[in-house]
Amino acid sequence: MKFFIDTANLEQIREMQELGIIDGVTTNPTLLSREGADPNEQLRKICEIVDGPVSGEVIGLTTEQMVSEARELAKIASNIVIKIPMTKDGIKAVKILESEEIRTNVTLVFSQNQVLIAAKAGASYISPFIGRLMDDGQNEIDMLRETMDIINAYGFNSEIIVASVRNSRHIVEAAKIGAHIATIPFNVLEKMFSHPRTDQGLESFLKDWEKLQKKLQNK
Ligand code: E4P
Repeated sequence: MKFFIDTANLEQIREMQELGIIDGVTTNPTLLSREGADPNEQLRKICEIVDGPVSGEVIGLTTEQMVSEARELAKIASNIVIKIPMTKDGIKAVKILESEEIRTNVTLVFSQNQVLIAAKAGASYISPFIGRLMDDGQNEIDMLRETMDIINAYGFNSEIIVASVRNSRHIVEAAKIGAHIATIPFNVLEKMFSHPRTDQGLESFLKDWEKLQKKLQNK
């Protein structure tokens, strides 16, 4: 399973990259606006830190606008992937961009039907927003399971990016289902590292080690 980090913050990306657990990055207009920097410059800096796919999103709503923005974004670096919203115009843009070997990530996906359409259009990546489904009281895990059933049943080439992750349990569920990728916020990645029993165990091992050293010194 690949891990992407869902942030546009350079420090967070660097920290997780140094730990060697990051395969890519996803951003969106909200995440980029939080950083307050020029978005294209920020994406360029992210692409310098991470070799894997880095998603940047188009803002235009027509196919023409999306394609022209995507062509410009694709010039930033060879690992840029273009996030395209799941609309009719977006799906047309996906077909055009993929035919030009510009990789796309269909975003704002909330249903299995939308997954099927994006996969048929040939998107490199498809991002179901499971956290927002959960927020709406829907069963986000069932949606993800059926998404993977559909992708696997027909051998679609699109990779599923589990997006809008809210907690570390989401990652376990996504892994059990066999999702290709999870894009994970920094705070959830941090929580995935820790367990109180690890800290307690480490503390008691070190205390016992100290006791042994004292005993050996007194011999
Ligand atoms: C990633 O591709 C999405 O933009 C992101 O996961 C959305 O997360 P949110 O629902 O927490 O805004």
